Amino acid sequence: MASSATLTGSTPAKSSSRIIVIGLLVVASIVAARFIWHYAMQYFLHFNAARFGYYWPHRFRLITHISGGMIALTCGTLQLWTGLRQRAMNFHRWTGRVYLVSAAVGITGAFLMAVYTTPRSFGVALMALASAWIVTTAIAWSAILRGRVEMHKEWMLRSYIVAFAFVTFRIIMDLLPSVNRRLGSNADDAATSVAWLSWVLPLAVYEVVLQVRKLSRKATA
Ligand code: HEM
Repeated sequence: MASSATLTGSTPAKSSSRIIVIGLLVVASIVAARFIWHYAMQYFLHFNAARFGYYWPHRFRLITHISGGMIALTCGTLQLWTGLRQRAMNFHRWTGRVYLVSAAVGITGAFLMAVYTTPRSFGVALMALASAWIVTTAIAWSAILRGRVEMHKEWMLRSYIVAFAFVTFRIIMDLLPSVNRRLGSNADDAATSVAWLSWVLPLAVYEVVLQVRKLSRKATA
């Protein structure tokens, strides 16, 4: 079956790409877990105006958004582990269903939050991100309903990259202030640039890697 070719087989090229993918997944799992604990869980542990600050008037929509986002991020990580390694496929199907429902909740909450986000340019960037999450997830789902396993894998990876964008956003904003300063003439301007870059750049890198791999596969076939 074409779908099992991604990480199985024993050529040196396949072994090294397997090591790279597993390494990336380990890093993504650790970073996602840290984001969930450090940013998302704090709103549940300290449900008060001081913790929510600017979000307090919209606390219930934020909690809806974060609940969906946290579950989607967790299930998305599990999906990639089991899907790419072709393991525990029954578990994979169930985490996939939970991913779809939680992504729908997270996206609905994201739109409900983004209409209040200031400056508007930052809100628009986040609405574009939420739209990209809908499109990539819907295509991944539609592909698996039609039995297109290879296409499903590719679009699930795109959906996860997009879901991960808010984590990437926080890393750049909070841990890389020197990069952040160069991306805008003030803090709001920089936040808007980072909101776009956090998903457009990783998707572009993924696209280049994917197309180069396909080209080299055809060339050696
Ligand atoms: C990928 C699509 C996503 C979009 C479009 C999105 C959109 C938004 C928006 C519009 C806000 C309010 C921003 C503001 O007004 O300042 C927000 C805040 C937040 N979102 Fe998301 N979000 C996404 C994914 C996630 C995920 C996967 C999580 C995981 C838990 C998450 C967790 C949070 C948290 C914790 C906040 C509060 C702000 C903070 O402490 O960082 N988001 N998001």
